[in-house]
This record gives sequence, structure tokens and C-alpha cells, in this order.
Amino acid sequence: MGQTITILGLESSCDDTAAAVVRSDHTILSNLVMGQDDLHMGFGGVVPEIAARAHAERLDICAKAALAQAGIGLQNIDAIAVTAGPGLIGGVMSGVMFAKGLAVGSGKPIIGINHLAGHALTPRLTDGLEYPYLMLLVSGGHCQFLAVLSADRFLRLGGTIDDAPGEAFDKTARILGLGYPGGPLVEGEAEKGDSKRFKFPRPLLDRAGCDMSFSGLKTALRRASEAIVAEKSGLTKQDRADLCAGFQAAVCDVLAQKSRWAMDEFAARFGTTNFAVAGGVAANKTIGSALKTAALAAGFGFTAPPLKLCTDNAAMIAWAGVERFQASAFDDLTLVARPRWPLDSTAKPMLGSGKKGAKA
Ligand code: KG4
Ligand code: ZN
Repeated sequence: MGQTITILGLESSCDDTAAAVVRSDHTILSNLVMGQDDLHMGFGGVVPEIAARAHAERLDICAKAALAQAGIGLQNIDAIAVTAGPGLIGGVMSGVMFAKGLAVGSGKPIIGINHLAGHALTPRLTDGLEYPYLMLLVSGGHCQFLAVLSADRFLRLGGTIDDAPGEAFDKTARILGLGYPGGPLVEGEAEKGDSKRFKFPRPLLDRAGCDMSFSGLKTALRRASEAIVAEKSGLTKQDRADLCAGFQAAVCDVLAQKSRWAMDEFAARFGTTNFAVAGGVAANKTIGSALKTAALAAGFGFTAPPLKLCTDNAAMIAWAGVERFQASAFDDLTLVARPRWPLDSTAKPMLGSGKKGAKA
């Protein structure tokens, strides 16, 4: 491999302002994430306008700190990689405009990165996974099985036709009054609950293929909760825990079963056997271990990047920038911010929308 290159990555497509410096030898020199949970907490979800403003205010602070922590200056990097979509458009625009300013000021090239490609390529940064591999991207805004063939070739094998699982976790937390972000809170409650008390649906499990659906599950949870409230005029701690456990078990079963389908299809088409997961929901211990068990049973290797690199971050954007740099695939100042940007342009569009809108 040629000379080592160093990329500054920037991410602002949802509710995290992030900057990182990553080298082509897989070293992460810095990886900073400035979250916005405090700004959105009172609304039970991300408010796009508030997010965009916060990104515009914080991107320069974050980038400066990432460079300082890496112990280098702007003159020492080879290029600036920035998330150019898909995502909440105000935030993506903040990032792209900031990156253009940096590129003009420093004379460094700019590379626009697809946020989903950032997630999908993370196992190459962390574990040097060889192409092709199967990836399950599962977070608050996306849920899809991808055959990752190269840094810019992805085949979508299936995905959610409505909500993303993380969004369903967040809505469940909102229905039960637990707070935001919902995933870790629901997981905490589920640990104390009986997953068999409520029989929640496992949508599309009776159907072949890798498509999934989570919106009916959320409705079933709301109905079950309302039925208890109507009967007993409130939820006990145990009711909440049991509801969370039942909900989590249903998500887990759907993801594990559909992963089995996806692995079968992937192995038949591509002949290799590596399965990787990324996205915030992959941080869920019950779900993570069910996916690992399914992978090992199918004879697949299993890769789950560390939590910090599974959720939104800029190291993954910088790494995708490394791969694009190595392919001499640069952008210029005409780079545009895109609210929607499917990784696989040949796949049928998603029917519904996730937290960030239908986007993949
Ligand atoms: O990948 P991510 O940081 O952001 C994007 O959506 O792109 O994922 C955030 C999502 C949120 O919906 C959050 O509730 C969910 O991941 N999440 C979890 C857990 N930790 C985060 N869901 C279930 N269990 C968790 N432990
Ligand atoms: Zn993401």
C-alpha cells in the first residue's frame, strides 16, 4: 500500500456534531462527538431546526478540537471528508458548507460521503474486513441488509418498509414516558421484565425475503399499554418492564430471523461468509448476541464494531474518505447536500420513512 494518508472527517446529518482524524493505516487519531440529547429531550425526538442550528454553531469547535487532539494542523491532512447525505437537510448543509469553507481556506480536496456508506465501511476500519461482506445497518433512521461489494458498490438485499427499529425503540420510550433517546432506556427496563407476558407481532416473519416492518409492533405496544391504563388507571413499574421486554424480544426475533434469510441469500450469491452489524440498535446487548448466535449458526464470521463506532461518528466518515481518496474519487465546490441518497440506486425505494425521512 502506498503512502499513509490522513483525513479529517465531519458528520452532522442527524443530532450529533462530530469530527475525527483517521489515517489510512487504520489509526484513529481523534474521534469527537458533540451530542444534542439535551436540546431535543423535551420533544421526545430530534427537532430538525434545532439540530441544524446547533451543528452550525459547533462544527468549527468540534473540528478544531479533533485536530488538536490528533496533534496536527489543517496543513497536515490530505483531504476533508464530509457527510453530504442522506439525513436532516439543515444539518447536512451545515456540514457541507463548513467543509467547503475549510477546503477553500486550506487548499485541501473535499470528498462528499454517503452517511450510510460510512456505517457500512466501518468494519473495514476496525477489523480490516475484506469485500464482499453482508452488513445489517440498524439505527434510528435506517434498517437494511446490504451486500458491501466495494467502497462505492452496495446491493440492498432488503430493509424496513416503514419505521427503523431505533425509531420504534424511541417511540416505545415516549409511549411509556421513559425519556429520550429510547433505546438504552427500553433495554434497561427490558432487563427487569418478562418478555413472554405480552405477545407482540413479528411482522413479515411468515414471508420469505429480507424486508421488515416495525410500525405495527409500535401500535401493538401502544394498545397494550392503553388497555392496562384503562383497566388499572396507570402502569406499574413491572407493567413497563414487561412491555419493554416483550417489545425488545419481538424486534430481536425479527432481526435475527431476517438476518438468517439475508445470510442464506448472500452466501448463495457471493460465496463469502462474513456478517457485520452497525448502527445504534446494534448496541443493544440482547439483539447483538442474537445476531451473533445466528451468524455463527449459519457458519458466518461476525463483526460488530465497538459501540462508539457503531453509533453516529465522524471516524467512519473519515475512513470512507480514505477509501475514496485511494480511488482518487474527489468532489469539488459543486458538492451538494442530499436529504435522500440511496446506497443502492437500483433497489426499489422504501415505502415508509424513518426518523430522518425515507432515504434508502
Ligand atoms: O446510529 P445512531 O446513533 O443514529 C442514527 O439513527 O443514525 O442510532 C441511534 C438509534 C436511536 O434510535 C437509539 O434509540 C437507538 O439507536 N439505540 C438503541 C440502543 N442504543 C441506541 N436501541 C436499542 N438498544 C440500545 N441499547
Ligand atoms: Zn447513522
